[in-house]
Amino acid sequence: MGKLIELSVLIIFSNIFISLAVAADWSILSPKFRKEVGDSLKKYCESWRVNVEINNIRGFEMVPQECVEHIKKYMTSSQYRADSEKALEEVKLYLSRCCSLKGDGKDAWIFDVDDTLLSTIPYYKKHGFGGEKRNITSLEAWMKKKGAPALKHTLDIFHEIKDKGVKIFLISSRRETLRSHTVDNLIEVGYHGWSGLSLRGLEDELKEVQNYKSEARQKLLGEGYRIWGIVGDQWSSFEGHPSAKRTFKLPNSVYYI
Ligand SMILES: *[C@@H]1O[C@H](CO)[C@@H](O)[C@H](O)[C@H]1NC(C)=O
Repeated sequence: MGKLIELSVLIIFSNIFISLAVAADWSILSPKFRKEVGDSLKKYCESWRVNVEINNIRGFEMVPQECVEHIKKYMTSSQYRADSEKALEEVKLYLSRCCSLKGDGKDAWIFDVDDTLLSTIPYYKKHGFGGEKRNITSLEAWMKKKGAPALKHTLDIFHEIKDKGVKIFLISSRRETLRSHTVDNLIEVGYHGWSGLSLRGLEDELKEVQNYKSEARQKLLGEGYRIWGIVGDQWSSFEGHPSAKRTFKLPNSVYYI
């Protein structure tokens, strides 16, 4: 009987010991473990975001599922605004010393529309924030409502450039069918006085966005314009020939076109 009690006590103690040992190794529920996993995910997603911005990651159809929250947090943060403002401050700096503007009506500047002049963030907030495949039908339905807000700092620089006598051309991958909605939306939030708005016609829809945009620039050069700069959120707005003397990239890690 004495032996049995001794054995039970031994088993009980060794069970407690094993549980403790397992708990020490298997600490997935511990705050420390959670923090480590969280930190490494945050690092991974921030690297993904930065590599999109510097054009190492191209042509992605969706934000990786595990990074949707991270991208959402960034694109709705004061950091996103600060990064955009910094890019536009560089535009100002460039303009203050770059260009021998001739004032002959042939100095030109190019802007993208979506996520450069207007923000599509309100749409993406409701549609998976880049974590869902781009749905043109629902995106265009949203654009037709003409409710896209202005990106405040681009609005300021838009007018500053225009006031220098530089002609502003908007080259957008939006379709031609959205012309009146786009114009109304732009005017509603404070943009006016641009010299051209290029949208994708039926034949342009068959082209890569980059080719469509570089052809639009070629057309401007053909008309004798000097393109001093481009402000855009997509690499396809800068690449291909001809380009501009300088390009300024605004952050956007929600979609790639
Ligand atoms: C795209 O959006 C439209 C309109 O909201 C919807 O009817 C359609 O099912 C969506 N398509 C996909 C593939 O989710």
